[in-house]
Amino acid sequence: MTSNTFNSESAAFPYLMESPLKPVVTLNGNEFIYFAGTGYFQLQSHPEVLRAAIEATEKFGIGSATSRTINGTTPLLIQLEKKIAEYFQTEDAAYLPSGYLSNLAGLQALQKLKLFDVIFIDENAHYSNQSGAMATGKKIIPFRHLNVEDLKNKIKTYLGKNQKPLIITDGLFPIWGTIAPIPDYLELAEKFNGVIWTDDSHSVGILGKNGRGSYEHYNLNSPKLFMGATLSKAFGAYGGFVAGNSSFINTLKKGQVMTGTNSPPNALAAAALKGLEIVQNNPGYRQNLYKNALYLKHKLTKLGLPVEDNNLPIVTFSFNDENKMQNIQTNLMRQNIFIQFIKYIGSGDNGVLRIVISSAHTTTHINKLVEALKKVL
Ligand SMILES: Cc1ncc(COP(=O)(O)O)c(C=O)c1O
Repeated sequence: MTSNTFNSESAAFPYLMESPLKPVVTLNGNEFIYFAGTGYFQLQSHPEVLRAAIEATEKFGIGSATSRTINGTTPLLIQLEKKIAEYFQTEDAAYLPSGYLSNLAGLQALQKLKLFDVIFIDENAHYSNQSGAMATGKKIIPFRHLNVEDLKNKIKTYLGKNQKPLIITDGLFPIWGTIAPIPDYLELAEKFNGVIWTDDSHSVGILGKNGRGSYEHYNLNSPKLFMGATLSKAFGAYGGFVAGNSSFINTLKKGQVMTGTNSPPNALAAAALKGLEIVQNNPGYRQNLYKNALYLKHKLTKLGLPVEDNNLPIVTFSFNDENKMQNIQTNLMRQNIFIQFIKYIGSGDNGVLRIVISSAHTTTHINKLVEALKKVL
């Protein structure tokens, strides 16, 4: 491994990814067994996903250079939206250029339908949820991360007479891999005549018997529940979506985000369609992911790391000492293992070490990670 190219703290983007996403990737000229990012099934390099993207590009070109509202809707976009609605068992769905924009568009549509007056948002909800909340111009009250009691108190304190709350959360939080207590939030939404918006970007494909995400995980079905997510993680593609009832999706499709953006590239719509199909038809991906997560967590517990005992693919720990954590990451890289040292919403100021497992890792990959960790902890 050459030693001069990585870990440049001053660079905004210190790593150059020079290979497709697979269990072993090339970063800054060196090969690493890769335990980062969010490609939970690594479909980003699946041959069928790639072929779908290439064929769509040849057939429809890159893009339409206009918005959906004008004439940017291709048959592929319609097909993808139908597929998303079928997968998530909703009346309709909208495909957007990114997950980030899905939150903006979804929250804007809820506002347009006058479904809420005051926003209550988990303090660690994703940046895009925070941006979407701010863009509504409504009063925003943050509540303590995952804390139902605090949410209840805040609603009682800040919600005016005849006002309705909107509760905003991530489904599965990206840094610590924790799941929001949505059934408790739903009780509050029902009691106060409000609604819930969940950014399910890290849960779709992963949580629930059929990979429909947080609501399926909890067996919830209610007209008060709304959701959006990205297609760039478990589904191996790119872009975002919002799934829901027809009137909500229609409102969203006529909203500013849809009207003001070019329609997403056909290659990515085709990739998403294939990714959804693969996940839907192959529950083995999810089972492998769970199996790998359990195996890794069992091994890390034996190393004495404080690891949650569950089958979710994110393992995070913090030593509250930035230098120590950066050294651990660098020393792992010297053994050709890549995990993330990351500062992100929810990580705290010192950052955390985050390991992400995928269904594509083998026991050998995981054992190598554990052996390398033993040497540097
Ligand atoms: C929780 C969450 N929501 C939304 C997004 C944004 O999705 P996209 O990258 O598709 O814009 C991300 C980031 O990747 C995320 O982690």
